[in-house]
Amino acid sequence: RTLDDAGSLQGKRVLLRVDVNVPMENGRVTDATRIERVVPTIREIADQGGRVILLAHFGRPKGKREPKDSLEPVVPALSAALGRPVAFAEDCVGEAAAAAVSGLKDGDVLLLENTRYHTGEEKNDPAFVAALAENGDVYVNEAFSAAHRAHASTEGLAHKLPAFAGRLMQAELDALTKGLEAPKRPVIAIVGGAKVSSKIDLLQNLVAKVDMLVIGGGMANTFLHAQGKAVGKSLCERDLAETATRILQAAEAAKCRVILPVDAVIARAFEANAANETVSVDAVPEDAMILDAGPASVAEIEAAIDQAATLVWNGPLGAFELTPFDAATVAAARHAAERTKAGQLVSVAGGGDTVAALNHAGAGEAFSYVSTAGGAFLEWLEGKELPGVEALRAKG
Ligand code: 3PG
Repeated sequence: RTLDDAGSLQGKRVLLRVDVNVPMENGRVTDATRIERVVPTIREIADQGGRVILLAHFGRPKGKREPKDSLEPVVPALSAALGRPVAFAEDCVGEAAAAAVSGLKDGDVLLLENTRYHTGEEKNDPAFVAALAENGDVYVNEAFSAAHRAHASTEGLAHKLPAFAGRLMQAELDALTKGLEAPKRPVIAIVGGAKVSSKIDLLQNLVAKVDMLVIGGGMANTFLHAQGKAVGKSLCERDLAETATRILQAAEAAKCRVILPVDAVIARAFEANAANETVSVDAVPEDAMILDAGPASVAEIEAAIDQAATLVWNGPLGAFELTPFDAATVAAARHAAERTKAGQLVSVAGGGDTVAALNHAGAGEAFSYVSTAGGAFLEWLEGKELPGVEALRAKG
C-alpha cells in the first residue's frame, strides 16, 4: 500500500523512515542525493497537514551514542533541500522524542536522533518498536536502501502501525521490477567490481534471469583464470576458479550469453596514469596486471547493449577511480545513456561504486533509474527477499 491508500494525513503523526545515511566530511554532507530523493514525500505529507516525524539511522554505532554518528549535521542539508525548517530531537524514543513530537503543528517536520543509538533497533526488539510507535499514528517506509535490514524502524514498525510505502520506495520497487522481474527482453546485466567472492549469489541468480551477462572489473580475471588464461599479477581469486566454472556452466544451461573481456589494458603499477598497453587476454605478461577492459571488449559490450531492451548494471568494468583505467566503464556507460535517451533501452543501475562510476561518466542522469541503494540493491539482484519490503507487502 502506498500513500494513495493512507487516507487523509491531516493532523496525523506520520513516522516516516528515511535513509539519510549520507557521506559526510567534517560535519558537512558531501553528497545530498539521498536527502533530495526523500524530499517529495516529506512535502507531500506535510502539505496535507501531516506532522512528519523522520526516523533514520546513521553509521553503525551499535547501540553507543557516538557523537560522530549523530544525525544533527543532516538537519541543515535537509532543511535546505526541503526549503522549510526541520526540528531535531536528541533521542528517537523517550521524553526528548515525546516532547518534540507533542510540540509539532500540522505540516511541521522533525528529525529524530539516530535509531541505532539503541540496541533495540538492530535487534528489532518489540519493546523498542513499541517505544518508537508511541510517537506515531501512521508508519511510512521510504528507505528502500535500508530495506535489507530487519530492524525495528525498517521492519518492526510495519507490523505495529498502519503501514505504507513512500514515493521513493515505490519508485525503487517499480524500477527494479522493470529491470528484472517483468522486464522487456532481451535483458543484459553488467556486473563488475573487484571480487567474485562478494558477488557469487548475484551471478548465480542473474544467469538464470538475464539473456546476456557482461562480467567485468577485477572479478573477470578470476573467470579468465578459470578458463586457463594467465592473468599475471592481476587481482584474481584463484581459489574460486571452480565456482567461476560452475557459474559459466549454469549460464550455458540457462542459455545466458556470458561476455568476458577479450582484450585488456595492462600496467605494472596500480596508480593513475601508470604506463599501460592493450593486449589480448591470451597474452597478459607475468609481471603485469589488468586494470581495464580493452577497446575490442568495449565494442563487444556496446554491440550487446544495442541488442538489449533492458540493462541492469552493478559494478565498474575497470579501476575507474584511476585515469585512464576508467575508459571502458565510461564508454559503456555513455553508450547505455545514449540508447536510453533514444528510447531504445530501459537502464537500471545501483550500488555505491556504480552510481559514482556512472556520475563520473556523466551518464547517471540519462539512465532510466539510478537506485539510492547499495547493499539492498545487491541483495535484491541476488533474488533475496528484503525484510522491509516484505513487511509492507504483508500489510498490503
Ligand atoms: C546503506 O548505506 O547502504 C544503508 O543506509 C544501510 O546501511 P548499513 O549497511 O549500515 O545497514
